[in-house]
Amino acid sequence: MSSFFASIVSFSVLLLLFSAYSTLNDLLSNTKTVAGHNLDPTPWHPFSTRTDKPTAFTLFQCSYFNSCPKFTSPLLTKPSHTFSANPLPSECPSFFSSIYRDLAPWSQTGISLPLIENAVRQHGAFRVVIKDSKVYVDLLYACVQSRMLFTIWGLLQLVQRYPGLVPDVDMVFDCMDRPVVNRTLYTGHGAPIPPPVFRYCTTTEHLDIPFPDWSFWGWPEVNVQPWEVEFKSIEKGSDAIKWKDRVKFAYWKGNPDVASPLRVALLSCNDTEKWQAQIFRQDWIKESTVGYQSSKLSSQCNYRYKIYAEGFAWSVSLKYILACGSETLIIDPQYEDFFSRGLIPKENFWPIRSTGLCQSIKEAVEWGNDNSYGAEAIGRRGQELMRDISMDRVYDYMFHLLVEYSELLDFKPKPPPSAQEVCIDSLLCFADERQREFLERSATSPSKNYPCTLPPH
Ligand SMILES: *[C@@H]1O[C@H](CO)[C@@H](O)[C@H](O)[C@H]1NC(C)=O
Ligand SMILES: *[C@@H]1O[C@H](CO)[C@@H](O)[C@H](O)[C@H]1NC(C)=O
Repeated sequence: MSSFFASIVSFSVLLLLFSAYSTLNDLLSNTKTVAGHNLDPTPWHPFSTRTDKPTAFTLFQCSYFNSCPKFTSPLLTKPSHTFSANPLPSECPSFFSSIYRDLAPWSQTGISLPLIENAVRQHGAFRVVIKDSKVYVDLLYACVQSRMLFTIWGLLQLVQRYPGLVPDVDMVFDCMDRPVVNRTLYTGHGAPIPPPVFRYCTTTEHLDIPFPDWSFWGWPEVNVQPWEVEFKSIEKGSDAIKWKDRVKFAYWKGNPDVASPLRVALLSCNDTEKWQAQIFRQDWIKESTVGYQSSKLSSQCNYRYKIYAEGFAWSVSLKYILACGSETLIIDPQYEDFFSRGLIPKENFWPIRSTGLCQSIKEAVEWGNDNSYGAEAIGRRGQELMRDISMDRVYDYMFHLLVEYSELLDFKPKPPPSAQEVCIDSLLCFADERQREFLERSATSPSKNYPCTLPPH
């Protein structure tokens, strides 16, 4: 399944936002994009001319929806909401401290409005302004599939979850897979200040700010449930098969056709005798016609070793692989998402070299089969990492990231004239039926407890 996710995005089409598509077949019929990037040399930007670009106002208009609630602060309408100081807020996982590192490029200079506007021009897919707990969105280009819808939904849920606590912010998101803010260009004496851009992943060579990806709230296009539902179901699948009964080989299933030399190399390791590995191709077109039965994540925990291979960029599949409780074999990762900073080699995963790939996999499997307790413990700790990253923690991460970010802004955020206010009801109205099911399933309610406390700087 691994790359399943990174791979499915190869079917992404540039939907005119979430408007017209009905079945996955529509998606499958257009393979012009790879992992969200268009391979067509003509500009893929559907809003490249001002006249073609639907405004946020027209996009988020919805026939049976009138307007978002008029109140300015949820605290005013929810006077009954109080946070309990008991239990005392727990400490956030230590990897949350990477928030400081991600925001370090602006710690001396702060972030000005012109800098945001520069980020909008250079890399923005959509811009979100939160002011007095209301959320405003401006559209810059169309994101593939329902990424934008689910990311905005996540922000609305955050505001809902912590009434009155979410600070005012002005944020620019790019929804494509690969980081773009090249660290080298912004380092050294006299270098310009980098544009602050939020994205689902980054690398050590980039300054993009990682943000939890849309799939935590669900991915209807490939039938992946909201994280809480999906984790429970994978955990159940994992509990159903004991370590000793799991197949003693390394397993990978995914799409090798995503412009990833690594995945192509992986195909040559498909030999149980020689390399102790089984490599399978995910056929999405077939899957979509049989209701995703054989791609169910919860039924893919029957191998002791599961390989994670990046595709065109990072892959959202990492969390589902780790959730299985098998020992995760991670091949030299280039990309980081917000939680992968919690990964520690030989503690909660096993590192694999991309040079001498098959040999490295073979050695890992042989070590694991000789040290069954050790391998099982690594698998269990990988699963624990993902159990700790509950939706509570995902919201807490977003909360702290927004708080730290807001402190860097040297102006008072204000929605630009072209932005449109969105709220839970307007998004539900705007979503299609299937998306609505996923959104409703991932809805949250006001928290009784304060967010976890961020490790000190
Ligand atoms: C960043 O820019 C430098 C200088 O133009 C270039 O050599 C390098 O390959 C770029 N890095 C990435 C990750 O694109
Ligand atoms: C890997 O080998 C198995 C067994 O020989 C085969 O069924 C499968 O199709 C092979 N995978 C690929 C991607 O060729």
